[in-house]
Amino acid sequence: MPTASDATVHPARALHGVVRIPGDKSISHRYAMLAAIARGTSRFHNFSAARDCASTLACIQQLGAAHRRAGDGAIEVTGVGETLQAPGVPLDCGNSGSTMRMLGGILAGQPFMSELFGDESLSRRPMARIIKPLSEMGAEISSSDSGRPPLKIQGGHLKAIHYKPEVASAQVKSCILFAGLFANGETTVEEPIRTRDHGELALRAFGADVDHHANIATIRGGQPLSAIEAHIPGDLSSAAFFLCAAALFPGSQLSLPGILMNPTRARLLDILIQMGLKITVGQIEQQHGELVGAIEVQGATWKGGTIAGADTAALIDEIPALAAIAPYSENGLEVRDARELRVKESDRIAAVATNLRKMGAEVEERPEGIRIPGRQKLHGVEVDSFGDHRIAMAFAVAALRAEGETVIHASDAAGVSYPTFFNDLRSITSE
Ligand code: S3P
Repeated sequence: MPTASDATVHPARALHGVVRIPGDKSISHRYAMLAAIARGTSRFHNFSAARDCASTLACIQQLGAAHRRAGDGAIEVTGVGETLQAPGVPLDCGNSGSTMRMLGGILAGQPFMSELFGDESLSRRPMARIIKPLSEMGAEISSSDSGRPPLKIQGGHLKAIHYKPEVASAQVKSCILFAGLFANGETTVEEPIRTRDHGELALRAFGADVDHHANIATIRGGQPLSAIEAHIPGDLSSAAFFLCAAALFPGSQLSLPGILMNPTRARLLDILIQMGLKITVGQIEQQHGELVGAIEVQGATWKGGTIAGADTAALIDEIPALAAIAPYSENGLEVRDARELRVKESDRIAAVATNLRKMGAEVEERPEGIRIPGRQKLHGVEVDSFGDHRIAMAFAVAALRAEGETVIHASDAAGVSYPTFFNDLRSITSE
């Protein structure tokens, strides 16, 4: 029995048109948080529509940084400077690991106690990765069993550290650099693999000196931030669903203007080209250190391939979509070194394997990856989002080439990153 949160996706014949992708989620979180501790009012055009970013805005509001939507659609955040207001209530991070982990870094430097909690999925996610460095810097943090939320953070004066995280995580890197603003001396993060650098670029945009090259980033404490005005580029990880959809139909042709082209995220485009898509990028511009460009994509023969090592880290958010379309490829897809996928909003390896098998595919699930043979046929059935936005959208894409219609339960999870996804998908699909 379908419910309001189910989406039915019909097989498509081709995809044509223009999709305007909402602002990047990773940048929107960081800009909002830094705007809260900056002096003055920041203005953000094309701020992410994601529920996750609304969680960040609601949290900073509780910390004294008011926000409002201006007449031209921009989000304005009025900063309170480096010392926020003690929140009267626990801070609700919703489904957003980014909110909890990165705001945690700022709260570690504040002269008060705060509590951060999240929904059922966030309550299962590992926080030891931020508790350990922030405790070394001097914050007092308690969590529920084995480092899961809720977190209680007693902040204060911090001391600088040189930290080498075990997992490659941009959220952890940003958390430590944000905390580094409140530390005496220079804080350095040395990552095992270079991750997205939006935190470093955002700190610079707000006026802080950050030294970053390769996998090492350093910030000096005590630097004041000043408000900015910025246009946030379209989210490449959201665009990825349309790029994967285009891969399914050789005749498809899509334009995606104004998309984030930051090199630490754009490895996706190289891999998609290797796997068979025809992609051109034009109108490259730069704002506050972030590159943006217009993508034109055409479907061709979809070959598939292997994703491993640093590529797995660089494509971590796009792997669900690549895996969901892998059965339609010529050579299949193998994903390795993807243990982190098991601790995202859902266990994404298990979720992809379960849904693909339901649709009739053969799948080999591995502890740290997945192998999906190519040249398989999928049929439309009922699948689940597992409450995970990227799983909901990945299977909407897979459904476009299935035989018969597919029902995606709890498809409203898509709103966590992309509330208008199903409408946008419908607008470019010919059945
Ligand atoms: C993000 C980093 C990645 C990614 C998440 C957003 C960020 O998480 O999966 O969607 O904005 O820094 P990890 O840092 O846990 O790898």
